[in-house]
Amino acid sequence: MTLWSGRFSSPMAASLWDLSESYSFDHILYAHDVVGSKAHVRGLEHAGLLTSEECEALLVTLDAIAQEFADGSFVRHEGDEDIHMAIERRATELAGATGSKLHTARSRNDQVATTLRLFTRDAVTTVARDLIDLVNALRELGSRYPGAYLPGYTHLQRAQPVLLGHHLSAHGWSLLRDVDRLLDTRERLNVSPLGAGALAGTSLPIDPAFTAELLGFREAFANSIDAVSDRDFVAETLFDIALVGIHLSRMGEELVLWTSSEFGFATLGDDYTTGSSMLPQKKNSDVAELARAKSGRLVGNLTGLLVTLKGLPLSYNRDLQEDKEPLFDSLEQVFLMIAALRGTYGSMTFHSDAAQRAADDPNLVAVDIAERLVEGGVPFRQAHEQVGQLVGEAARRNITLAQAVAQNDQFRSFAELFAPGASLRARTTPGGSGPAAQPEQADRLQAAIDLATSRLI
Ligand code: ARG
Repeated sequence: MTLWSGRFSSPMAASLWDLSESYSFDHILYAHDVVGSKAHVRGLEHAGLLTSEECEALLVTLDAIAQEFADGSFVRHEGDEDIHMAIERRATELAGATGSKLHTARSRNDQVATTLRLFTRDAVTTVARDLIDLVNALRELGSRYPGAYLPGYTHLQRAQPVLLGHHLSAHGWSLLRDVDRLLDTRERLNVSPLGAGALAGTSLPIDPAFTAELLGFREAFANSIDAVSDRDFVAETLFDIALVGIHLSRMGEELVLWTSSEFGFATLGDDYTTGSSMLPQKKNSDVAELARAKSGRLVGNLTGLLVTLKGLPLSYNRDLQEDKEPLFDSLEQVFLMIAALRGTYGSMTFHSDAAQRAADDPNLVAVDIAERLVEGGVPFRQAHEQVGQLVGEAARRNITLAQAVAQNDQFRSFAELFAPGASLRARTTPGGSGPAAQPEQADRLQAAIDLATSRLI
């Protein structure tokens, strides 16, 4: 028997039960549901709908139920359709007639919206915190190899030398924007739906602003229909997480490349690599491949929910119950991805010699030569053309650009530009990849991390 069986003459068909029950996945909301219910109980007392003794009894009961969940002793009963009904059923068992007053002036529609906002508010904060830890792991790796550099790529072709710290900070900035986005989402979702009832409010004298404040929400809903019917905050969270996944997938792809024999820029710790069941020599970067792959699943969860929400009439529809599994899954996966990548960067050995050898490729000096010509008064387009011809000639003659420069009267004076690291040191503009440009960038990154951290609480 369910808590709403009064109107019905026959029990629910088993196949409908299986389709519609959500306890099997939404029981993880128990702590937030109890927090929401406790505020609701206080609100009922405030409205004169519960005596202070009844209020106290219900608060104690709700805490006891939360404890049962926490220690694993809570027993689901037949008829516990979702976490909300399970808790109310148990409250009535424990507190008798007082328990049956718990759902006064409330619907599961405003209840589930409240619970899910409370849950998501905490969850996005945790993802943001984990991401800041990952940014710090990237910074830590950079500072383990001060002065190390590698080729920077465009089109995955060697382009210009960049400091390792500069390169890793590029990922850091993406992730910090993800943190910002998650915390901005938290701002928008921080509105209480409690008191909206099924969709239209209630004739009983409750005060949504009172419970909103108890729950630490910025304010109570303005419109009861909107309060129970929109899951834009879940979609937004799924988007934020999907974008985190996209960023992590790019990092994963880079790790796959760096740890290949062809690049040889990095080795991951044995504790962050996997072997092959057949090939004894293999040391695989599965961690990076899984980080890359799981982003697809995160995008899928977002897409799935958006399609579920599309075209839903106002206000609550049972379709909305389908918001939970994608949300829970994306959170679970992104936590796994962040934790594993963080450990991976911590375990990494960067092979500065191989990376620097690649970055000292003479061709990467081409633009420096053109820029020196510009300093001598040659218009850039002409300088580009002249150096391009020299690069082409070197390729045809199968010699390096450095050799071609040394053999050419017009260019011979530029030979010192080919000294290891000279091109890197020449990149002095703000935000650029050279050593002189780093202190200011490090300060800006630190300031962004401090700001993000201050927003976490
Ligand atoms: N388990 C439901 C959900 O997740 C709770 C709300 C049910 N409301 C209803 N009118 N059937 O959306």
